Amino acid sequence: MNSKDLLSQYRQEALLGGGKKRLEDQHNKGKLTARERIALLLDEDSFEEFDMFVRHRSNEFGLDKQRPLGDGVVTGCGRIHGRFVYVFSQDFTVFGGSLSEAHAEKIVKVMELAMKTGAPVIGLNDSGGARIQEGVVSLGGYADIFLLNTLASGVVPQISAVLGPCAGGAVYSPAITDFVFMVEGTSYMFVTGPNVVKTVTHEDVTSEELGGADTHAQKSGVAHFAMPNELECLEGIRKLVTYIPQNNREKAPSLTTEDQAARLCPALNEVIPDSANKPYDMHTVIGEVVDQGSFFEVHEHFATNIIVGFARLDGESIGIIANQPLSMAGVLDIDSSTKGARFVRFCDAFNIPLVVFEDVPGFLPGTDQEWRGIIRHGAKLLYAFAEATVPKVTVITRKAYGGAYDVMNSKHIRGDVNYAWPSAEIAVMGPKGAVEIIFKKEIGEATDPRAREEELTNEYRERFANPFVAAERGYIDDVIEPAETRIRLIRALKMLATKQDSNPWKKHGNIPL
Ligand code: HXC
Repeated sequence: MNSKDLLSQYRQEALLGGGKKRLEDQHNKGKLTARERIALLLDEDSFEEFDMFVRHRSNEFGLDKQRPLGDGVVTGCGRIHGRFVYVFSQDFTVFGGSLSEAHAEKIVKVMELAMKTGAPVIGLNDSGGARIQEGVVSLGGYADIFLLNTLASGVVPQISAVLGPCAGGAVYSPAITDFVFMVEGTSYMFVTGPNVVKTVTHEDVTSEELGGADTHAQKSGVAHFAMPNELECLEGIRKLVTYIPQNNREKAPSLTTEDQAARLCPALNEVIPDSANKPYDMHTVIGEVVDQGSFFEVHEHFATNIIVGFARLDGESIGIIANQPLSMAGVLDIDSSTKGARFVRFCDAFNIPLVVFEDVPGFLPGTDQEWRGIIRHGAKLLYAFAEATVPKVTVITRKAYGGAYDVMNSKHIRGDVNYAWPSAEIAVMGPKGAVEIIFKKEIGEATDPRAREEELTNEYRERFANPFVAAERGYIDDVIEPAETRIRLIRALKMLATKQDSNPWKKHGNIPL
């Protein structure tokens, strides 16, 4: 056979992965194949494949008689909306997508190229984990990937989609990456599967309950996105990429928008309820302010008392962190603090300005939170905001109480422009709690304690529960009409576009993990 025919034969063989039968099985499970996924993820005809002819080098357990081309992973480079990305897509039809030494080398190669050229890495994971027949060289392969995930962190964006089983140490590569997508019903992530769980803890749990998409998107926070099917998952990744830059030295792309920069948002003048105890949906505020339809929520179903996500203001990408009064009154707890902190750090690492909408009654009290370390976890959010050097703008819509006032990008931790609506209440704590403490004796001795308490509460509210005490000090740069919020934010961010700030030299900080 001449070399041209051989090339064509090899290519055909490689395209078949684990063979027709296994490709059909993949479809029957409601899953796409590794190559179909790449085709949907990337712009048409943009995929440049590497290492199609790589084979494993193992002889154990009869593996020398099964040496499929590509060795269970399709790797290469392509474009999303015209911008380069590096991709690996594990092929479950070849040894269950399991990771061999050669398979790992292919992934490492694209990761190294991504770092050298400054482009995102997208991993489509569908794998039974370490290739059992290969033993320790497979474990070494995983470790090589973990190392590169860590080195690439904060250098190029890393996105993982988990599109099948993902067990054992295999979950740690996606966990180090910036965003994890899962698909409902077909993807699982766990350190040990249901059988091991049953043996060790005697719990009966299904794969779905233990590590399905909903579990990780709602309970553990391991997944940032739970998508109903693979198509929407791949579309979601394409969308996410539009908000982020290629690497840590670039800015996210600007998009032209029909939405006017000078658009007033009159609905915002009515959004704050009459009573401070009544909730409202912070999504309404975000939706009104940002370029129409541009909000792309991250971690939508996890720690819903804080909202994080990307959006655009006058076409420029921003990262939003907002307390959500509709969920646990917007209080900060362990999960919302870590969720917020990780998002802030992503935006800071990749030059995406931060916009904070603040309505927070404080940190959540109680033994559960204290014993699980709300101090340590809350400190992460504080640390993340304080450390961030990107443009940082805050709008206090209502409550900014206690430590949470400091934490939520206050002026004191380098908030660049801090606005408050007239409805803002900025104080050490809410009027009722404050009066109960500082006037305890006086209330106790009053002839009508309840009337006296109400009187003192009203006095306190008038004195402190407004934005003007903070504005008097310059802690608030301006008190703004809610309707003007979009206009003012766009102006502030344009003013801050050339901002330069830095932190003292260090090897790295020691964020309280
Ligand atoms: C080699 C594997 C494999 C593996 C699956 N296969 N996992 N081959 N190494 N890890 C092969 C099967 O032999 C089978 O080959 C084909 O892939 C499909 O597997 P099935 O079991 O038929 O598929 P399914 O029923 O869908 O089950 C998928 C699965 C199951 C849940 C992933 O295969 C499974 O539990 N695999 C082992 C998972 C695991 O324990 N991995 C090691 C984790 S520890 P044929 O030829 O029949 O098609 C780990 C350490 C990493 O990864 C450490 C890093 C620090």
